[in-house]
Amino acid sequence: MARELTQLDLLRELAPVAEENVNRHLKIAKNWNPHDYVPWDEGRNFAALGGVDYEPEQSQLDEVAKAAMITNLLTEDNLPSYHRVIADNFSMDSAWGYWVGRWTAEENRHSIVMRDYLVVTRGVDPAQLEADRMVHMTNGYSPEAAAGDRVEEMMEKGGEMGLLHSVAYVTFQELATRVSHRNTGKACNDPIADKMLQRIAADENLHMIFYRNICGAGMDIAPDQTLRAVTDIVTNFQMPGAGMPNFRRHGVLMAKHGIYDLRQHLEEVIQPVLRKWNVFDRDDFSAEGEQTREELAAFLEQLEKDTIKFEEMRDRALAREAKKRERQAS
Ligand SMILES: [Fe+2]
Ligand SMILES: [Fe+2]
Repeated sequence: MARELTQLDLLRELAPVAEENVNRHLKIAKNWNPHDYVPWDEGRNFAALGGVDYEPEQSQLDEVAKAAMITNLLTEDNLPSYHRVIADNFSMDSAWGYWVGRWTAEENRHSIVMRDYLVVTRGVDPAQLEADRMVHMTNGYSPEAAAGDRVEEMMEKGGEMGLLHSVAYVTFQELATRVSHRNTGKACNDPIADKMLQRIAADENLHMIFYRNICGAGMDIAPDQTLRAVTDIVTNFQMPGAGMPNFRRHGVLMAKHGIYDLRQHLEEVIQPVLRKWNVFDRDDFSAEGEQTREELAAFLEQLEKDTIKFEEMRDRALAREAKKRERQAS
């Protein structure tokens, strides 16, 4: 009979792993200053202080870079919601509590530096950005809402959305934001933005490693239960920005132009983490765990097929657009 651990059991049993990983993180994390990544000399006042308000031609960013910047920044803006979820699941005691505070403080740098950059360089409309931030943060983020219609099914299978679901989700989500920030940096066509987003992506990678190690230790002490949580998350995964203004339109643009698409999701986010946990080579699952593993394998197989289909559609659409541009130019 596989061992089912309660939330309290998990917090207690994984506390030494949390402590070890907090120490590991503090040794390698680099302190950095958001103000060092912003070209302040490009800034000037807006109309309220006697200057000029935003006009679209002031921006050096193309539509793809704008969509990616806005999506990534609004995602970072919702930190209070993520803090709430993590704090609820991790408790505020011992190494867990320390991590919650430290991680929140590190994450806050991301929205600070991106907003400063965008406002100073006039990369996007700051008034629209503020209006979108108000909507997005007022809606907030909840893991249940992110799971959408499938939340009931998930709860039935997983029992509850607790610690294991949270660490599984943030492991994939931190890695997904790493990929998205890095590719957004390239799309901005500005070495300053690229450097800033590389800096943020490096943070996201260290965060991912912390959560991946906790979840991996969970897999060792409660293999079936952890695999159930991982499978729930992988098969229902949605980026945390779902629900922000223009999320679909921006998401499509980002996928179409390789900022974050299905292949990156599969090959740069899902597969490397599952490999690290040795999911498909371990022999400590019970019959129930084996069944979950088959469910996960079937999902990944389907995702691979969907990826190929998406890429064929994308190639056709891009070719059509290129032809249209050629016709307009001639
Ligand atoms: Fe972040
Ligand atoms: Fe992060």
